[in-house]
Amino acid sequence: MAGRTGAQSVFDAFAGTTRVGQAFAKLGFRVVSNDPAVSSRTFGHCYLKNRRPRKYIEELVGHLNSLSPTDGWFTERYGGSPSDPKCPKRPWQVHNTRKLDAIRPEIDRLGLDETGRSVLLTSLILALDAVDSTIGHQAAYLKNWSARSYRTMELRVPELIDNDGEHEVLCEDVFEALPKVRADLAYFDPPYGSNNEKMPPSRVRYAAYYHIWTTVVLNDSPEIFGKANRRIDTRDHCSASVFEDFRRTPSGEFIAVDAIRRLIDEVGSRYVLLSYSSGGRATAEQLNAILGNAGKMIATAEFDYRRNVMSVMRWTNAWVRESDAPNREFLFLLEK
Ligand SMILES: C[S@@+](CC[C@H](N)C(=O)[O-])C[C@H]1O[C@@H](n2cnc3c(N)ncnc32)[C@H](O)[C@@H]1O
Repeated sequence: MAGRTGAQSVFDAFAGTTRVGQAFAKLGFRVVSNDPAVSSRTFGHCYLKNRRPRKYIEELVGHLNSLSPTDGWFTERYGGSPSDPKCPKRPWQVHNTRKLDAIRPEIDRLGLDETGRSVLLTSLILALDAVDSTIGHQAAYLKNWSARSYRTMELRVPELIDNDGEHEVLCEDVFEALPKVRADLAYFDPPYGSNNEKMPPSRVRYAAYYHIWTTVVLNDSPEIFGKANRRIDTRDHCSASVFEDFRRTPSGEFIAVDAIRRLIDEVGSRYVLLSYSSGGRATAEQLNAILGNAGKMIATAEFDYRRNVMSVMRWTNAWVRESDAPNREFLFLLEK
């Protein structure tokens, strides 16, 4: 879809894993990646800013893999053992958190610049992710140990992108970043929260879902709370991001929906690519009204994750009817 616009630069404003920004960079776009999560900043530096040769990183990764495991802060809070019947639910087995406790301080000790550190931290996070015992996020851990948690984690060189694009990585609230960014196309994939009224908002926040990645990056031994040993700074009962806010404005509109309107209004890019999930706070009608007022809809598409295919819709507003079913994913391309 983005190919239709002739755009050469992309603002990935809610970058998360930076997967989408990486795909744009591989296609030759200049990418500005932004997300207030420090782990996203780390991924952005790793994939978009690295210029070190793979061989050099391979040696550092080999060195980290060879360190002797040790007990430490992470093991005490996040390591568990199947042989201990009293062990609370934990995201990793101790043989892996002991490796983490050895590797994490060594990454700082190597004294690399931010991009070099980010490549190694990304490698560490990917290795931990491959042996975890969670259902995909860190708000709760599995009762029975996952099969993969028995494996010994091994760091590998991340799939680095071979490019010399002048990419940028920001780590800010999108509304702070907007005035600084010059890009032909803005890609918005905001958190849509949940339309499940019973779900406590702090549980559906990205910062709460991936709190351990924040701690791995910062290595700041934070105060923690609750059964999942979450960072204390993910505790607030209200949402930290307007896009995850569950309350309404005085005029009765959801704050999160109002924020999407502001976002499209304030962005300086000529083209906006917006992703939308029907399980979120904004209803299809609300979003359709925002999009209709903001500019010209060039295309709409539905993405089917199970089959990994995208179908472009013939009629740009056909999606409103389609969105009744839960968890449908749509993409809109808008010209302002
Ligand atoms: C749906 S995810 C994006 C996923 C991303 N497209 C990917 O492929 O990984 C939403 C992201 O928005 C970020 N986010 C939440 N509030 C934000 C804000 N106010 N400004 C910018 N990003 C925000 C979250 O940290 C999260 O990474």
